Amino acid sequence: MKFDTPAGKNPIDQLKVVGKPTDRIDGPLKVTGTAPYAYERHDVVPNQAYGYVIGSGVAKGKISAINTRAASAAPGVLGVVTAQNAGPLGLSFFNTAKLLAGPDIQHYHQAVAIVIAETFEQARAAASLVQVKYVRAKGAYNLEAVRDQGVPGTGRHTGTKFGDFDNGFAAADLKLDQTYHVPDHAHAMMEPFASIAAWEGDKLTVWTSNQMIAWAQQSIAQTLNIPAENVRVESPYIGGGFGGKLFIRADAVLAALGAKAVGRPVKVALTRPMMFNNSTHRPATTQRIRVGAAKDGRIGAIAHEGWSGNLPKGDPEGCVSQTELLYAGADRFTQNYVSVLDLPEGNAMRAPGEAPGLMALEVAIDEMAEAAGLDPVEFRIRNDTQTVPGKDKPFSQRQFVECLRLGAERFGWDKRGAKPASRREGAWLVGLGVAGAIRGAPLMKSGARVRLNSAGVVTVETDMTDIGTGSYTIIAQTAAEMMGVGLDKVVVRLGDSTFPVSAGSGGQWGANCSTAGVYAACVKLREAAAQALGFNANDAEFVGGEVRVGRRKKKLADAAKQSELVAEDSIEFSGLQDKYEMQTFGSHFVEAHVHAYTGEIRVKRMLAVCAAGRILNPKSARSQVIGGMTMGLGAALMEELVVDERYGFFVNHDLAGYEVPVHADIPHTDVIFLDEVDPTASPMKAKGVGELGICGIGAAVANAVYNATGVRVRQYPITLEKHLAGLPELA
Ligand code: MOS
Repeated sequence: MKFDTPAGKNPIDQLKVVGKPTDRIDGPLKVTGTAPYAYERHDVVPNQAYGYVIGSGVAKGKISAINTRAASAAPGVLGVVTAQNAGPLGLSFFNTAKLLAGPDIQHYHQAVAIVIAETFEQARAAASLVQVKYVRAKGAYNLEAVRDQGVPGTGRHTGTKFGDFDNGFAAADLKLDQTYHVPDHAHAMMEPFASIAAWEGDKLTVWTSNQMIAWAQQSIAQTLNIPAENVRVESPYIGGGFGGKLFIRADAVLAALGAKAVGRPVKVALTRPMMFNNSTHRPATTQRIRVGAAKDGRIGAIAHEGWSGNLPKGDPEGCVSQTELLYAGADRFTQNYVSVLDLPEGNAMRAPGEAPGLMALEVAIDEMAEAAGLDPVEFRIRNDTQTVPGKDKPFSQRQFVECLRLGAERFGWDKRGAKPASRREGAWLVGLGVAGAIRGAPLMKSGARVRLNSAGVVTVETDMTDIGTGSYTIIAQTAAEMMGVGLDKVVVRLGDSTFPVSAGSGGQWGANCSTAGVYAACVKLREAAAQALGFNANDAEFVGGEVRVGRRKKKLADAAKQSELVAEDSIEFSGLQDKYEMQTFGSHFVEAHVHAYTGEIRVKRMLAVCAAGRILNPKSARSQVIGGMTMGLGAALMEELVVDERYGFFVNHDLAGYEVPVHADIPHTDVIFLDEVDPTASPMKAKGVGELGICGIGAAVANAVYNATGVRVRQYPITLEKHLAGLPELA
């Protein structure tokens, strides 16, 4: 189905199932521990051996010698694979660094070998007997030191120019020129990278944990130099990905190589301490923002430059893109720069670009509002734009101002002290902060197959993934709505490369695009069912397990009485993205308390207001938004991969050293969804919220802390030593 004109009225608009707060249909499997995750799939293939991955002990250089004799002779060991005996390996389009290193080393903990044994313990013990000698080379590990060597990013990671920024800025009444720093971040998902690989002749099956099945299939094939049709990938349950699992990692490739070497299925999980340096991370950014405004607070000139580092051929963290869209102003300039750093590979992490970009922009806007003597909500409203600045292109929907107004009203924004450090409750300084949120709503082709059997059960098959987001549930809701059946009559099967290729889970496109693909397949199934029952599909209503035309009605199940009906289609988007800028919008409000004596920060309340098209399931959508807010609070106050600048690795590479919020850190959190449908986005009229929640919240926390203390910290995370010395004098 081509989607090139805005959707009219369609069966989804009935909202009998779609749009209802629905419990996750996979919930019982999850809470009973029976949802099969990759490493636990003991049943899929017999005789599984265990692999243990060895990571490089240096960040850059060469392996001069690797001795596997002692390891190979250790008890239970079945084989050892290194680059020397693995055969020629390719590099997939989606990976920057090789997944098995040798002789060159590109980053610390890059895999150099896998030991395969009868048990995990034997594999681990033997791994300690592998002797690797390195010749260390000098690497670059400090962003500030190489920042000036940065070159502009390419493609969507570059920048834009409109008007004349230099002149506009020079002529402005009010000016801000500040630099902000966001450190490297880790996905730190619950489920580590894990895979089981088995060969049958030249056919490979990999049970893994991956957000994008078709990309994984291609990448495994490219890396192993085998045809993609010889690779099957299954990933039905995923314990978090956050962008880290958009791409295959060492576990998938080494399980396959190990299985080939020992002639048995091999299972591999990266240990927690390997996760942080072996896989990708969100690159640190240094961001310079300049804003020039007139005395009335109207922005005339705005520039945002972002510097980040990556391995050669890696992209920058595209942190300036939101600044091209969020506020008005005729003279504008944005640019991302990337320098070579020899740290582990930088890549997508939840809302790549906007998440760190808004942590800088929305603090700069807070600073500018103060300079203009305006309330920060009012300042943002005054600088709203209904078309993309510098272009004629309208937004498909833009309720940014509505998000700000409603949030301010619901949060009790009028209680904020305009003067920083002016509110105190006992030993605590009290501050309120606000920030805007914006995140794209990309459209990706998505396919699905639906089956109807003689029991009236509708089965959906698509290679879409559920990374903890609720895909199973919204897909079931879509099929139930389209076919006029209850959720109990729908079965959803996901995450298998033998199913039609979907949009996958990424860039918050998954919900809208994958359900739109199911919609397309259901339109075909409705036609087939109506025809089988002797009805004209255009006149038929599908409701209550029946197909009705006027006063005639027949059981839906009867359409499949002779044989199962199968329909397959995809949604293909074209044209509307060029006409309309599709973005989701939001506002974040935060109350922070800062201990007047110690500087300790406690966030007390958070509210997000989101405008993100039709909300397919308010319950799972809310969970997505509060999950994003939790991550954003972590980024504001805790998260930081600390770089060892001598040896080039992330020092705090486990969950003891890499701090993320725990339950006690997260206060009462409210989410409000504005009533919105976006007919340009898909027949579902939805847009996606998986990443909107992390966008802006970090800055709202920072702005609340500033409002409490009067000390502006521009270097994340805001830990207490950064503002302690500047806190108000104690009486
Ligand atoms: Mo997202 S960072 O595209 O999984």
